[in-house]
Amino acid sequence: MKVMLEVAGVSKRFGGLRALDGVSFSIAEGRISSLIGPNGAGKTTAMNVIAGDIRPDSGRVLFDGEDITGLRPYQACWRGIARTYQLKNIFPALTVYDNVLAGMLKERGTVRSKESEVLRILDFVGLRHRAQVLARNLPPLEAKLVELGRALATRPKLLLLDELIGGLMPSETEQICTTVMTLRDEGYTILQVSHEMGPIMQTSDWVVVLNKGQKLAEGTPNEIRCDPDVQAVYLESGGEMDE
Ligand SMILES: Nc1ncnc2c1ncn2[C@@H]1O[C@H](COP(=O)(O)OP(=O)(O)OP(=O)(O)O)[C@@H](O)[C@H]1O
Ligand SMILES: [Mg+2]
Repeated sequence: MKVMLEVAGVSKRFGGLRALDGVSFSIAEGRISSLIGPNGAGKTTAMNVIAGDIRPDSGRVLFDGEDITGLRPYQACWRGIARTYQLKNIFPALTVYDNVLAGMLKERGTVRSKESEVLRILDFVGLRHRAQVLARNLPPLEAKLVELGRALATRPKLLLLDELIGGLMPSETEQICTTVMTLRDEGYTILQVSHEMGPIMQTSDWVVVLNKGQKLAEGTPNEIRCDPDVQAVYLESGGEMDE
């Protein structure tokens, strides 16, 4: 199994707060890995470090065997890392079509030459019939799918999905889970964050648990479900380990 991403001893402080404290884990190519943990555990900070939005105080990030620590977000994107954000982050005044097209800005070629790829992605996320709708008018599920579409348009190898599942109706959550597993089956490598344990356990090949900036455990969904340390942290934080 090939390692696509390695986070090695990464630390990041915000003032006196250790948001990440010597965190190490690896992500295997072609798998769905998940970062879980209570609020404030450091999950989004880890995503930010990997995507270049935040420079760690110490530690390294290796992608495809190369050191990418401290690269700018656009440089990480060029290497093949794309992300969606915990908070809605689409261009509200642009259409669905143009939001996805925006993911292809780094590529050469005319707007016209990119049309077939944009339409292919809109078909994949099920939004071709919504292509001319302004993004600000979209309901939550469609907004998330547009963001995913824009990330796919950058032609990534690694997709970082921060709470892509979350705040949705059960049938919508199921749809996102199916989409994420389809992407894995098409060869994408995925690192996702979610609060919703059911979908995480259902879709993940590997789970890394963070708590208070440190890695608490990692393993298969079954190993994590049975881990007493993980159960204790979730009970303490009022979360649910059950599906
Ligand atoms: N830019 C920042 N400045 C100051 N503190 C920050 C900043 N970003 C994150 N933090 C703090 O770092 C800690 C980890 O935050 P992070 O967003 O990584 O947690 P998380 O695991 O994603 O939590 P959640 O489940 O609520 O999304 C939190 O205590 C948070 O308040
Ligand atoms: Mg977060």
